[in-house]
Amino acid sequence: DWTTGNVIEEQVAAIRAQVGDKRAICGLSGGVDSAVAAALVQKAIGSQLTCVYVDHGLMRKGETEQVEKDFVAATGANLKVVDASERFLKALAGVSDPETKRKIIGREFIRVFEQAQLEILQEDGPEVAFLVQGTLYPDVVESGGGTGTANIKSHHNVGGLPDDIEFELVEPLRQLFKDEVRAVGAELGLPDEIVQRQPFPGPGLGIRIVGEVTKDRLDLLREADAIAREELTAAGLDRDIWQCPVVLLAGVRSVGVQGDGRTYGHPIVLRPVSSEDAMTADWTRMPYETLAKISTRITNEVADVNRVVLDVTSKPPGTIEWE
Ligand code: XMP
Repeated sequence: DWTTGNVIEEQVAAIRAQVGDKRAICGLSGGVDSAVAAALVQKAIGSQLTCVYVDHGLMRKGETEQVEKDFVAATGANLKVVDASERFLKALAGVSDPETKRKIIGREFIRVFEQAQLEILQEDGPEVAFLVQGTLYPDVVESGGGTGTANIKSHHNVGGLPDDIEFELVEPLRQLFKDEVRAVGAELGLPDEIVQRQPFPGPGLGIRIVGEVTKDRLDLLREADAIAREELTAAGLDRDIWQCPVVLLAGVRSVGVQGDGRTYGHPIVLRPVSSEDAMTADWTRMPYETLAKISTRITNEVADVNRVVLDVTSKPPGTIEWE
């Protein structure tokens, strides 16, 4: 019968049988699924696994450190961190259109990740033949159920490698639902901040700045978002709220008054939603006291923000994210 202990034992045996004495690579996103998949594979094959984390500079406060420090401390995994934040900022300069931003972030991410893969392939050691992915049962059902392989194409600036390298996929979460993945992660000793993390989009804060993404705007939004998350957690609302995007309207300024002066600053939008699966959502009727506290703290503590507004739109017609 189903226990997290049984699942772990079974998967560890299956991973060992599949990988043998070859090596595997796993990309970490900061999210629950990739972290738990990596922790399972680490338990099974130890140093034959190398994890890769691409820091695109669009993560929330503390999240990169959670991967670099807490994930590594909990699992003992080999981790290759690529700091690509400058590269992403450059690629995003001057771009405001949401779809264009998403495409740029996706494209840069793949390029940086592939480069890291090629560097790992060139290290001494057994053949790297496997790519670990945190595919869950609902993803399997949605995509028709096949297992697969993944191709990466080598870049012209890296010599001496075949044109196409094919990896076999290792997908240890294929039979699990999200709550089961969290239980497995907890059993494997991953910290709560990783295991209980709410959904966060791959393009990160890049699609929560309405307007051009710049370093200053990212820093500002990271502060506002950290305050909102801290207060929602302190109020015990993490379970009631599916997720709460915090959005910076970079192209909007409004007049305010702070201290003895007039200000002309940006609004921050709070978008707390309740949902079962993110396909539909409703705005969360959360306590006014918590909203008041978040608003006061953000306008006091975050420079250049003089207004906090609440998004009271359901999905549909609004999406959860603003971009
Ligand atoms: P929307 O805005 O479409 O979001 O209502 C639905 C859910 O998906 C998340 N989301 C993403 N997740 N990559 C992701 O991994 C993305 O590009 C992306 N865009 C939106 C969003 O946070 C919400 O949970």
